[in-house]
Amino acid sequence: MKTYYRSGMCAEINENNIGENVKLCGWVQNRRDLGGVVFIDLRDRTGVIQLVFNGENNEEALKIADRLRSEFVIQIEGNVVRRDAGNYNANIPTGELEIICDNVKILDTAQTPPIYVDDSDTSKESVRLKYRYLDLRKSKMQNNMKTRHKVSKYIRNFLDNEEFIEVETPFLTKPTPEGARSFLVPSRVQKGNFFALPQSPQLFKQILMVSGFDRYYQIVKCFRDEDLRQDRQPEFTQVDIEMSFVDENDVMSINEKMIAGLFKEMLDVEVKLPIRRMTYLEAMNRFGSDKPDLRFGFELKDIKSAVENSAFKVFSDSIKNGGDVRAINAKGCGDLFSRREIDALVDFVKIYQAKGLAWIKITEEGVKSPIEKFLTEDEINDIILGTGAEPGDLILIVADKQNIVWDALGQLRLEIARKLNLNHEGKYEFVWITDFPLLEYDEEEKRYVAIHHPFTSPKDEDVDLLDTEPLKARAKAYDMVLNGAEIGGGSIRIHNKNLQEKLFNTLGFSDEKASENFGFLLDSFKYGTPPHGGIAFGLDRLVMAILDTDNIRDVIAFPKTQNHSCPMTMAPDIAEDARLDELGLILKKL
Ligand code: AMO
Ligand code: AMP
Repeated sequence: MKTYYRSGMCAEINENNIGENVKLCGWVQNRRDLGGVVFIDLRDRTGVIQLVFNGENNEEALKIADRLRSEFVIQIEGNVVRRDAGNYNANIPTGELEIICDNVKILDTAQTPPIYVDDSDTSKESVRLKYRYLDLRKSKMQNNMKTRHKVSKYIRNFLDNEEFIEVETPFLTKPTPEGARSFLVPSRVQKGNFFALPQSPQLFKQILMVSGFDRYYQIVKCFRDEDLRQDRQPEFTQVDIEMSFVDENDVMSINEKMIAGLFKEMLDVEVKLPIRRMTYLEAMNRFGSDKPDLRFGFELKDIKSAVENSAFKVFSDSIKNGGDVRAINAKGCGDLFSRREIDALVDFVKIYQAKGLAWIKITEEGVKSPIEKFLTEDEINDIILGTGAEPGDLILIVADKQNIVWDALGQLRLEIARKLNLNHEGKYEFVWITDFPLLEYDEEEKRYVAIHHPFTSPKDEDVDLLDTEPLKARAKAYDMVLNGAEIGGGSIRIHNKNLQEKLFNTLGFSDEKASENFGFLLDSFKYGTPPHGGIAFGLDRLVMAILDTDNIRDVIAFPKTQNHSCPMTMAPDIAEDARLDELGLILKKL
């Protein structure tokens, strides 16, 4: 990148430049003064190169080099030479070269940086985020941002080739119902009224289908005011997609082609197409999760038939009350886990509301278990048969309501995999989860709520269930899961006004409420709506998977902390009284 200031970039200097005079700019990574000779590592976006100041051609340059400190910005001129063989540095691409400098100019000085600008820096994340501009200078963070850029670029090219059009949609809008809380923005012009920041462009992209765009995409910020976790941010980025005249297979097949291409391009990983599919029910029954990590086994096994008549009431009563009894065979863990480690697992499932965790250790001499005395030999044998356990194995059992059994054992299998270090690097297990239930019952609100969102279509054959057994209705929805993380999700939408109204009724929305919230969508549906559907990928999560990090903040230049703040800008901040007045707002004393 030749400019007025420089002839090229630091780490792009190579063998072919030996003997050439070059002009480079960058930051001082470090300085070693050997008395009469000063070595500097000069860093720019491409990496570092070693500079040598020995005073031979220019005494003045050596004097200036003496004054250089970490993170000074300098411009140098010098000659590219090969280092003495004994001084090669195999850790950097320019490690066999150096530049004998004749001239140096300080373009800017720097205070001593509060964090060490190097990947080996161990500062706390809060400090790194406060000085994010320094943190982002590190080669790891530079690489993360470049990777993110390449991912977006690949996706843009792919979708452009497939004739998708990028259309921007508004940020100042009405709330969209993705299930999270929206951020509100007060309107100054219309005092007392509020915009909501979009949780996704869901309604707009559907309207773009009504408008005949046929294939839309957008790489777009979405805003959700929810509690943060390792893979969540209040503002994050979606690759948002919508298509007309499609069914579930159309959406899934084009999107898996995109993801396979992306992983090939970025990691040279072959994703076998079609990506396997699993219904929601199968995922829950076998893995206790709708985002199963398929890098390891420890599947949940149904052992109801072994214990339904057991005298051990914990098991038999649970079945009588419509609950479930399932077990995981933690292969080899009978030998591996100490009594204390097993007790820790018992405590672990309690986090997920399980009342207990029964365990059976299989040894060559027989079984060891706190519930051995409550079970008959036949029952124990049936459990062993049902789980395929062998000597050395550990059977872990939860009896409870269906959801608790799924969740507790689903989390337990992840915990065991973590303990055994089975979350291998370099293994990419993709799966589509399909046939989600359309609705769930919200105990607090005492009504049905849409699991995905209220525009998701029920399966054609399940529409009548909305009148009889709404919880049994399945949705035309699909999630793409990678190594236990939901990286994308979408659905075929309802495009029929009557069916949409019927669903709103099931959800307990009055006609007025539906029309107040989504009237514009329903109105648009009056004028000819194509069948349509789409999906949105979490761009941040895709980049996380590609970079193999579980910290979403590693892939966002300026992320928020756990308590929704930015340590660099100190946002959010209080508003001055004059601003509040202008907006017609009065703050409650907190
Ligand atoms: P959904 O709510 O499933 O669907 O979101 C789609 C994808 O966005 C990512 N994601 C997030 N990433 C980081 N931080 C968050 N807080 C966060 N929330 C979601 C996930 C998720 O799979 N409009 C629908 C899509 C559609 O139906 O087309 C939607 O937003 O990777
Ligand atoms: P208790 O009779 O409560 O002392 O429990 C006897 C054994 O059964 C203990 O090992 C408990 O961990 C286990 N247990 C209790 N409740 C459950 C449950 N819901 N599912 C599986 N095991 C349980």
